[in-house]
Amino acid sequence: MPHLHEWSPALRQSLPHLVLGDAPTPVRELPAFADGVNGIWLKDESGFGNGGWGGNKVRKLEWLLPDVKRRKRKTILTFGGLGTNWGLATALYAREMGIHTALALIDQPRDEHVEAQLERLRASGATIHFTRSKNRTVLLAPWLVARHMSGPRPPYVLPSGGSSPLGALGYVETAFEIAAQVKSGELPEPGYVVVPAGSGGTAAGLALGFAIAGLPVQTVGVIVTEHLKLDDAAIGRLARKSAALLRERGADFPEPQLNLEMTGQWLGDGYGTPTAESERAIELTRQSGLELDPVYTAKAMAALLARSRAGDFGSRPVLFINTNGPR
Ligand SMILES: Cc1ncc(COP(=O)(O)O)c(C=O)c1O
Repeated sequence: MPHLHEWSPALRQSLPHLVLGDAPTPVRELPAFADGVNGIWLKDESGFGNGGWGGNKVRKLEWLLPDVKRRKRKTILTFGGLGTNWGLATALYAREMGIHTALALIDQPRDEHVEAQLERLRASGATIHFTRSKNRTVLLAPWLVARHMSGPRPPYVLPSGGSSPLGALGYVETAFEIAAQVKSGELPEPGYVVVPAGSGGTAAGLALGFAIAGLPVQTVGVIVTEHLKLDDAAIGRLARKSAALLRERGADFPEPQLNLEMTGQWLGDGYGTPTAESERAIELTRQSGLELDPVYTAKAMAALLARSRAGDFGSRPVLFINTNGPR
């Protein structure tokens, strides 16, 4: 499968893409876990991004930042929790292109991890609005837009996690990359690909990309937040909007058959609140040489380990995507 932007001249012209990280990102088999789970492969996105940090956020920004530029917007307005990785990646990568970022942040449980992240957000130069809850953010939205006008131009408004149909293209491309790694023999064909879902763009993009590439793999999105609707229907809709965007811009492919399962079973008490399983997953995975973050990847790995132990994945290899790219 060619890179998305090399797919057709029309696509390249109408969907500008900025290279912000080195691809393909590496894949490797994890050593057997201490509790006996094996056959788990890792695609490590943690080093993706200039300076080797950013993870899955940067894949989306590769498509989003050129669009911000093309529309001549000076400010991005986007959303997240107090410890938003997405907000930090946006603020820092946009700043390099002379674009300012404004963040509207809702509360999440404050721990050391979140306090450290807030410090980084403050240092990033982003304007921060503590809007506290989703409802207050919605009520304040017109004020936020007015506050961040640059002359006649409104800010470029991005949903939390950058999971717009355009942002999700980052993971359509990553699915093509995985298909190429399977083809070259670097990676056995996985039966399942497990990812955390915070706003769903990663899961939607992967499911669409695998469908287009013809790789019969099931994308399992492990929901880590109660603030957004991230069920099969919602993520399927996002994937189909990305497909429509590609088609509008000249890509030609049959109606994609999405093989996608979103599960909310591992969320526990909510976004940012650890569970016994996620804490155990951090410990077990550390012994395999991989550092998980508590909010996203730990819950996804908890789901993977439990389902693997239960025999849900059969004998097919399982691919875990490490979406975290800590700074
Ligand atoms: C480490 C990590 N994993 C996963 C996600 C969620 O990805 P998505 O928003 O595409 O569902 C995020 C979002 O910020 C993240 O920081």
